[in-house]
Order: sequence, then C-alpha cells, then structure tokens
Amino acid sequence: MEDKPITPSPNLPNSNAAPEEDKSLMHIWGGVPLQGQVNISGAKNSALVIMAGALLCPDDCRIQNVPSLVDVNRMGQILSALGVKVERKGDALHMNARHLHHSKAPYELVSQLRASFFVIGPLLARLGVARVPLPGGCAIGARPVDLHVRGLQAMGADVHIDHGTVHASVKGTNRRLQGARIYLDYPSVGATETLMMAATLADGETTIENAAQEPEVVDLANFCRAMGARIRGAGTNTIIISGVPRLHSTDYSIIPDRIEAGTFLVAGAITRSDLSLFPVVPDHLTAVIAKLRAIGLHITAETPNRLRITPGEHHIATDIETLPYPGFPTDMQAQFMALLTLSEGDSVITETVFENRLRHVAELNRMGADIRVKGNHAIIRGVPRLSGAPVVATDLRASAALVLAALAAEGKTTIQGLHHLDRGYEDLGGKLLKLGAKLQRVDDPEADAPVIQTVAPGQV
Ligand code: UD1
Repeated sequence: MEDKPITPSPNLPNSNAAPEEDKSLMHIWGGVPLQGQVNISGAKNSALVIMAGALLCPDDCRIQNVPSLVDVNRMGQILSALGVKVERKGDALHMNARHLHHSKAPYELVSQLRASFFVIGPLLARLGVARVPLPGGCAIGARPVDLHVRGLQAMGADVHIDHGTVHASVKGTNRRLQGARIYLDYPSVGATETLMMAATLADGETTIENAAQEPEVVDLANFCRAMGARIRGAGTNTIIISGVPRLHSTDYSIIPDRIEAGTFLVAGAITRSDLSLFPVVPDHLTAVIAKLRAIGLHITAETPNRLRITPGEHHIATDIETLPYPGFPTDMQAQFMALLTLSEGDSVITETVFENRLRHVAELNRMGADIRVKGNHAIIRGVPRLSGAPVVATDLRASAALVLAALAAEGKTTIQGLHHLDRGYEDLGGKLLKLGAKLQRVDDPEADAPVIQTVAPGQV
C-alpha cells in the first residue's frame, strides 16, 4: 500500500487554495437516471473528532476508513503543527502524539475549519495548557464555543479569550482537569465531544447532562474506550466518564458517513433512480428514511448494512424540522429542500439548529424553484421542473443540494465554488459518474488547457 503524507492529497484539487481563489466548476447535464451501487465513505465528522482524540494518547493510533477530504487534510496539518506524526496509508491514518510539543494551533488553518477547535480538550488533558484561535468553518451562523468553554471551566480550567484566541490552562502541580457535573444548555455535538475527550484523563468522574446523542459522539466514545477510556452512556443524553491516568495505542475503524449516504438517497429520489448504498448503518438514517417514505420513495434494507432506494409513483410535499439527533439532521436540510422543490404541494422546512442556513434558497430559485423564506422557515411550493443555470455554492451542504437539483434539472447547470464540496464529500463527482450521471469537473477554467478532473468517456 502506498505511503503518503497528509498534505495535500493529490486527488483533492485546490485543497489548499483559499476559498476566494477557488475557480473550480462542475457542469452537470440533468435529467439522466442513475443506476448501480455507491460506496459510502467513512464519516467526515467522526474522522475529524477522532483525529483530535488521538492527541489523548502518547502511543501509536491507527484510524481506518478515513475519507480523503480537504477538511481531513487541514486537520492533519493542524495536528502536525502541534507536533503529532500523521501519515496516510490508503484509507488509514497512522498517528503518534508522543511528542505533542506545542500548545498553540495555527490560526491560518484553524480559521478554515471549525472542527479544529476540538483539539482544545485533548491538549488541555495532555499538557494542562492550550491556546486555540476561535474557529471558522461553514458560514452558517455565529457558531459560538461558549458551551465548550463553560464545561472546561467547570472542570477547573482557567479560560479566557484574548485577541481572538482561547487561552486555557489548568493550575496545580499535576495540571489535571477535575471531574465535574456539567449540564449543557443545548445538546451541542462539538461541546459534548470536547468535554468527553477532556474528561477521559481528568481526576475523578465527569457527568455530561443534556449531551448530544449523534452517532459521531458514540463513535468518538468507542474510539476513546478502545484506547482504555472509561465512558458510559454515549448515545444517550447522559454520558459518564471516569478519568484514567493514561490512554494506550489502538486500531479503530470509523463508521460510514450517514450524511453522504443521505445525500445519495436524495440523489436516487430526485432522479427517480434505483440505487443501492453500501456500507451504511440504517439506524443512523431513521429520520431521513422516514421523510423519504413520507415523500413517496421506497427504501429497503437489503442486508444489515445495505440500503436500496427505488422510485415511487408520486413525490408529495412534507414538512421538516431540523433537530439534534435522533431528530432530522440539519446537515440534510438543504438536500431535502432540493427534493421538495419538485414534489407536489407545499412543504415547510424549519431550521432550528443553525441560524443563516437557508442561503441555498436563492440559488435553487434561480433554477426555477418556488421557495420563500420567513425567518427560519422556508416555504417550498412544488414546481413541475427545474431548469439548469449558473449557480454558486455557499456552504458544504448547500453545494450538495445544488448538485442534486442539477441532476434533476433540464439542461446544463454550472456550479461554482467547489471548495465547499471538497471539504466534505469524497469524490462526489466521480461517484455520480459511476452511477451514470453526466457531469464534468473543471479545476482551472482560466488555464490554457483546463484540467478536467472527472469526465465519463463519451458522456459529455
Ligand atoms: C457538528 C457537525 C456539523 C453539524 C452539527 C449539528 C462536526 C465537525 N460538525 O457541528 O456538521 O451540522 O454538529 O449536527 O461534527 N452552540 C452554541 N455554543 C456552543 C456550541 C454550539 O451556542 O458552545 C450552538 C451552535 O451555534 C448551533 C448549535 O449549538 O446553533 C449546534 O451546534 P453544535 O451541535 O455544536 O454543532 P457543531 O459541533 O459545530
């Protein structure tokens, strides 16, 4: 198997390009039915937090089923800057954080990736000190970190924000965090993960109440347990962590990406195709499957880790409210909006998790959708067809929604701003091509000889 450094992966075009320099385009010719099986990659949100979790352990850790994504590369770069050895071998990351030497994460990288803030918990737990710039990430609202900070303070850390950087330290001779009882005002995924990681090496027992129950939180807990952490209750709203003095080496494989799987289910639905998805954990997709069935699609679990979607007669409107897991995921909201633009009747989507996460509406309307926004509600009046248009991706899941709309639209759609897509989907264009989609990715349209990334022979 080929050994390669984490930075930058050759199959990630523009992986280090600043977003404003991103000129990449995807042309999609819609109305083509898809068919076949799609392989679902490892979960982005598990991979990112588990990479941070590997800082807790001074021994070798091998993390398998890690998707090849710009965000994963960026996280690898941040960890390298902190003194961690990170090496990619195939779909596995080999990490060693023995010489964790630096307690400040670099701003240029952290500002591009909200998940990088996750390093604060493990850094504090291992070194007793951490300095992490306030994070960036998708432009989908203010996204504060107050719950992370308050939880760390409850565990005895001294935390203050100065010049845009969070400075955290633990006093005392052994510089260990203290177990605490923490109630989260909101079941934040990131805060639950930060505090769970910090508590693994704390002195005594920590209880996190109103904890997030997302599958990625459970995946992180399982990874930490594989390193010797003592954690109970992950996947419920109360997580109890008994601190241990040290964690040890492990080999761990992360779960399939439920959001990528959900996106392909919607691709099948919107193009009225017969698709099979493997591997998946159907239980992680309960809310998504329930809504697809309400719209009129047929979904069957052919084996415990394979789902098949087949077309129904009609697609009918349905209402959706995003909620913390096991409610309907905010990360599937934009994709379902694309599907509902072509469903009969009026649907209402209510976004309750993030403010400012309806920016794809304007672009979908450019393609002929009929959507109005009132506060955090989008009212979608089904239309018989969408038409291809030039559109701009505004964030990760919004980009996916535009790809889905384009697959169903009449004519050609050109999507600009693929850096969002590359952050979170492993070769989405390539996977769609294998299913028969007609698309072309151009990474530098201004170059004399454009670099065409993915073109199906004879298709375009
Ligand atoms: C994670 C996921 C993201 C997903 C989101 C919700 C990763 C890398 N990202 O993001 O894909 O959309 O969960 O499922 O795992 N909040 C606060 N204070 C805090 C923390 C959060 O007010 O300290 C608010 C946020 O602004 C937001 C809500 O809580 O309105 C949910 O955020 P959170 O669950 O923390 O999401 P992330 O961990 O950022």
